[in-house]
Amino acid sequence: MRDVLPGQGSVRAVAPARSPFRFDGRVPGDKSISHRVALLSLLAEGESTVAGYAPGADCASTLAAVRALGARVEGTPGEGLRILPPAGGVREPEDVVDAGNSGTLARLAVGVLAGAGRYAVLTGDASLRGRPMGRVVRPLTVLGARIAGREGGERLPVTVLPAPLRAGEVTLEVASAQVKSAVLLAGLFVAGETAVVEPAPTRDHTERLLRAAGVPVSVEAAGAGRRVRVRGPARPRAMAWRVPGDASSAAFLFAAALLTGGAARVRDLGVNPGRTAFLDALRAMGAEVAVEGWEEWQGEPVATVTVRPGGEGLKGARIGPEGIAALIDELPLLAALAAAARGRTEVRGAGELRHKESDRIAAMVEGLAALGVRAGEYPDGFWVEGPATVRGGRVDARGDHRVAMAFGVLALAAEAPVEVAGAAAADVSFPAFWEVLEGARGLPPLDA
Ligand code: S3P
Repeated sequence: MRDVLPGQGSVRAVAPARSPFRFDGRVPGDKSISHRVALLSLLAEGESTVAGYAPGADCASTLAAVRALGARVEGTPGEGLRILPPAGGVREPEDVVDAGNSGTLARLAVGVLAGAGRYAVLTGDASLRGRPMGRVVRPLTVLGARIAGREGGERLPVTVLPAPLRAGEVTLEVASAQVKSAVLLAGLFVAGETAVVEPAPTRDHTERLLRAAGVPVSVEAAGAGRRVRVRGPARPRAMAWRVPGDASSAAFLFAAALLTGGAARVRDLGVNPGRTAFLDALRAMGAEVAVEGWEEWQGEPVATVTVRPGGEGLKGARIGPEGIAALIDELPLLAALAAAARGRTEVRGAGELRHKESDRIAAMVEGLAALGVRAGEYPDGFWVEGPATVRGGRVDARGDHRVAMAFGVLALAAEAPVEVAGAAAADVSFPAFWEVLEGARGLPPLDA
């Protein structure tokens, strides 16, 4: 078990930008989609290939887990993968499965293991072992799963015991795409219909990718959220997957462009509406955002997105509970951007931020304050007063990749260098991040 946090011990000093940040290219493959295509390939009828699989540590943990469950994985994420599922279905892993820092893997793997009825013990790093698991254990238990874990099933390590699942409907206690996906993946093994009701809409990659792999999934409105159904037993088809760029990684480049008066164009970017609320927030804050050249890859929308400052600079934004799920991973970055925006930015209804790779509300407010920015916490959000003079100084990423990268970007707009303690945590989702941040300065302007 890993007791250190990602990036712990690493420090990176980021100097203020002397020229505008300009970028024109691609970002690493989408992390959410990569986890899912690896798991669907494990469950598929034959050999799948994956182009553009996310290169970070989280998705490497998923490949290791898929191997531990019996698949053969060949190739490298950068050059393409071949995934051959085990004959005879998911195998009992020989050892404890380590999900590393990845909440998505931990939750989805519990669903697969419960569905497949395999004995397994699952753990993770120090951060992941502190994150809630009851939200996925409880609904699977309602469907017949036998799962035990530390603190009454609330924390890793958890143990999944073989037990037959039955068809049924579960209503989730939190809007979580991970938990919804765990139930749907478990439902593939169950005879009859498994339904999951989410209290608010969350990213729908699992639904889209299952459909692309030939498994019918039905979706209907249910209260403020949705009811999603899958009928089993069903096996996904083997596929030639192509993973779009990660909108959550591109977000850092868009923000860097806005903070330095540059521009960023990202090609082949995933623009699933469950993931692009950050682009709407940027528009509301006064940025120019262009989305062009739409395509569809296995049911996932893909486009070229260009972001540049609008004529009047950035202004603060008010973001309420509705639609938070589609913005949740970008909120640390939004807090950083708010420091440079005119007026007050306020985010509410985002209590889930306290259960991510770190308590992201506390981590961002503490770091902003260390750089002289006025900011404060709400139980379910934060406020930031801008435009602030961002002093140099030192901030702690708390082992959280998105906190590290958010401060890396804000450093471009600071008066003096900012030291990011724990900067190497960026490897979790965007291993080349610091090189991209350095290298993209001073490139020629983009074509309009
Ligand atoms: C994810 C869902 C979100 C998100 C996380 C990835 C996914 O979490 O914050 O980074 O891939 O399903 P929730 O499950 O809490 O919605």
